[in-house]
Order: sequence, then structure tokens, then C-alpha cells
Amino acid sequence: MVEFNLPANSKVGVGKTINAASGAKRAKTFKIYRWSPDDGQNPRVDTYVVDLDKFGPMILDAIIYIKNNIDSTLTFRRSCREGICGSCAMNIDGTNTLACLKAIEEVKGDVKIYPLPHMPVVKDLVPDLKHIYAQLASIKPWLQSQSPAPSRERLQSPEDRAKLDGLYECILCFCCSTSCPSYWWNGDRYLGPSILLQAYRWIVDSRDEMTGERLDNLEDPFRLYRCHTIMNCTKACPKGLNPAKAIAEIKKLMVQRR
Ligand code: FES
Repeated sequence: MVEFNLPANSKVGVGKTINAASGAKRAKTFKIYRWSPDDGQNPRVDTYVVDLDKFGPMILDAIIYIKNNIDSTLTFRRSCREGICGSCAMNIDGTNTLACLKAIEEVKGDVKIYPLPHMPVVKDLVPDLKHIYAQLASIKPWLQSQSPAPSRERLQSPEDRAKLDGLYECILCFCCSTSCPSYWWNGDRYLGPSILLQAYRWIVDSRDEMTGERLDNLEDPFRLYRCHTIMNCTKACPKGLNPAKAIAEIKKLMVQRR
């Protein structure tokens, strides 16, 4: 008989319930994943019932309210509060998205909030991004040129500049990579949609002179070709970008240069 052991922390228990909305006309229940590396306990889901009239309309408003008024131990990342920094990415109501752009009224029933899936957790809603940032560094996400620097800026035609549209807007929230089954199972070697979109952003930049080297770096059964066109990445992107198309463009370039 084969015996299976679940990985550490995969059993999630029921945590505490705090009702902070007695007498509220608009009460809403938030169920939030909690885990601390310090207490040796398994993860749990805590329940907070809050009054929607006490804070703003977004999921991030609710989380900040809970931290400031109910449970100061709740841990999460956030900065800009307007969909620009990418730090508040989490799984809300079963979808990876940005808490600051997700309206509470979009969620029917209880709001379930978990960290981005298939990432190690630092604490509560904070994923460990060390590995994915190392993958980003591996594609050298900056302009590389061997020709002497011009006296002023490196110019681009409007047509070449337009090729960066749909790429430069990526805020590195990693909602796409953590929606991708190929990245879940092979994230140690597959770069995933967010990093490949970044790679294409530099490959297609007319000012960059290392296109060949960049493609060489991706010519690998795992780094690029673990993309199986599942398209979860494009569905998940909270900025409306299309990482699957960027990956397809890289694959086309690989064929064209043979
Ligand atoms: S807080 Fe910056 S993207 Fe949400």
C-alpha cells in the first residue's frame, strides 16, 4: 500500500471568529488565511465580520481596516493603493488579483482571501518572492547596448515604441505566474508568464542590441517551452495584459532564426 504524506502546512484549520459589526446595517464576512513561522502551528482561516460603512469600497480597504482596528497581527503587503506597485497581489474569491483594484461588492457572499497560490509563504498573505525575482534577474531586464552611448537619448520611431505597448505596463504582481499550472509544477526551471513577458519586452525593444543572446538564454525545454498555452496568465492579469501572446511571440522568433 502506497502511503502519501501531505507537505508541511497543507492542512488548513479553522481559526478564530471576531464579530466587529454588531448593529451594522451592512455587515460582511471576511475569511482570511493566517500562518506564522513563529508558533509551529498549521495555517488557519480566521473570520472577521465587519461593518462596510466603516471603510472604503475595495478589498484592500477592508484588510487595512481589520489590521488597524481589529487584529494588528494580520500581515500583508501594500503600497500604492492604485494598481501600480503590484505588492497587494493575493487570491481573492478564488482568483489572483490586486486587493486595491478589487471591489468588495464584486464578491457575493463571504470574501475568502489567501496568499498567491503555490508560493512559499513568509507570513499570512505575504508570499516569498526570492525565487521569482532571481528568475527576473536572469533575463537581465534592462537595456543592453554595445554601441557607444549617444550624446543624448537613444531614439525610437513611433512604430518601434508602439511595440512596447502591452508589455511595459506589467507591474510584476505575479498574478499570472501563480495562476499557471506549468509554473506551479515546474517553477524551479520554467520562467513563467510574468518573467517571459518581461523578457519579450527587452527582446522587442529596438534600442537593445543583445536580442540574440536574450533568445539563446531562453532556448531551453524548461525556461521557455514549459508554456503549454493554457492561457490562465492572460485571464488573471489585473492590468489586462497578454503574457501568453508575448510567449508566443518569443516562440515565433525562435523558429524564424533557425
Ligand atoms: S497596493 Fe499597489 S498595486 Fe495594490
